[in-house]
Amino acid sequence: MKVLVTGGAGFIGSHTTDLLVERGYDVTILDNLDPQVHGSNAKVPPWTQALIHQKKIRFLRGDVRDRGLMTPLVDEVDAVIHLAAAVGVGQSMYQPHYYIDVNLSGTALLLDLLANEKHHVQKLIVASSMSIYGEGSYQCARCGKIQAGVSRSLDQLKGRDWEPKCPRCSNSLEAIPTDESKVIESSSIYAISKRVQEEMVLMMGKTYSIPSFALRYFNVYGPRQSLSNPYTGVAAIFLSRILNGNRPMIFEDGNQSRDFIHVRDIARANLACLESKQSGQYALNVGCGHRISVNQIAEILIRKLDPKLSSEVVFKFREGDIRHCYSDPSAIARLLGYKPEMNFESGLDDLIDWCRAEQASDKVGQSYDELAARGLVR
Ligand SMILES: NC(=O)c1ccc[n+]([C@@H]2O[C@H](COP(=O)([O-])OP(=O)(O)OC[C@H]3O[C@@H](n4cnc5c(N)ncnc54)[C@H](O)[C@@H]3O)[C@@H](O)[C@H]2O)c1
Ligand SMILES: [Zn+2]
Repeated sequence: MKVLVTGGAGFIGSHTTDLLVERGYDVTILDNLDPQVHGSNAKVPPWTQALIHQKKIRFLRGDVRDRGLMTPLVDEVDAVIHLAAAVGVGQSMYQPHYYIDVNLSGTALLLDLLANEKHHVQKLIVASSMSIYGEGSYQCARCGKIQAGVSRSLDQLKGRDWEPKCPRCSNSLEAIPTDESKVIESSSIYAISKRVQEEMVLMMGKTYSIPSFALRYFNVYGPRQSLSNPYTGVAAIFLSRILNGNRPMIFEDGNQSRDFIHVRDIARANLACLESKQSGQYALNVGCGHRISVNQIAEILIRKLDPKLSSEVVFKFREGDIRHCYSDPSAIARLLGYKPEMNFESGLDDLIDWCRAEQASDKVGQSYDELAARGLVR
């Protein structure tokens, strides 16, 4: 079976490609080697280079918005795993045109080709994101389950009152697992692009009877996560701070929480969709179902790497950040029998082992300045 993996040189794409190659799939990668991810001289990363060298994959450098390039590719393959995207939540708030262009025009072109050109694509998998939910689900002792309308006002945040309140009775709330029925309340351009991308793929999949999956990945971490891109995941950002002798910088009070899933488990979820016999269209959470606070991550990393350091809690907040969101992973377990396997501590060890051999340049100060200059950090 031939599979096109867009963004296949990136973090999730490369682990997905490795797994597909291990399982005997014939993989073509299309990736433009975005300099923000791959560095300014944008070389093919070593993990992709190794597969090219061993003649295990075909690699094409190019843009998912390039019709001339995409047309023959889509014609050749049986399945598309579409991961190429611009991926920074904060950055999307000051580069909205770029984010919408890459994330939505790229997807629209793929769908245009599926609608108009000859092809035999039997499976579409697209990377959606937990960020589309906005705040996760909460429980109010008086009002019950709250699936919409939870947000924190500017005044509340300025008063350093971080936990969201019940939108009906202002009571305090308890975070509970977020399932796919949660109302979508995207709070960044990036999240909006992912929400619309998901809808486009599932709707066109239904229209043209192509089995389709939009996977709402939670916070992904692991080896090959860009350490130099200050807009990627918090575990990698903290690691590059610590490896450069700097204190991890924590927004709010650090008790905000997320659901961290190892990249290899994400690759396994992609494979499970690829191999599924389900013929419909599905939006599914891919997370572990546990919440971990930002303070906990910083503590674990400091303990493992440099116990002299302490984290720097700045009590500032970023526009668009949510307080808590963690997955209810039961839908994908029911539909595909899929469950993540890696626990968080061993997953972090895996990331640390890889990082020690890497050159992580710490650009957190620069990204902070870019956001602050636009009033996006307060
Ligand atoms: N990492 C996470 O925590 C996370 C969470 C939810 C969803 N996702 C989604 O997963 C997908 C992969 O993310 P990742 O973390 O591997 O990011 P990444 O930046 O490591 O990988 C993205 C890849 O796409 C390539 N790319 C960017 N623009 C392109 C274009 N116009 N044409 C061709 N290639 C292009 C980049 O060069 C890069 O190799 C994205 O769609 C992202 O939105 C990631
Ligand atoms: Zn209430």
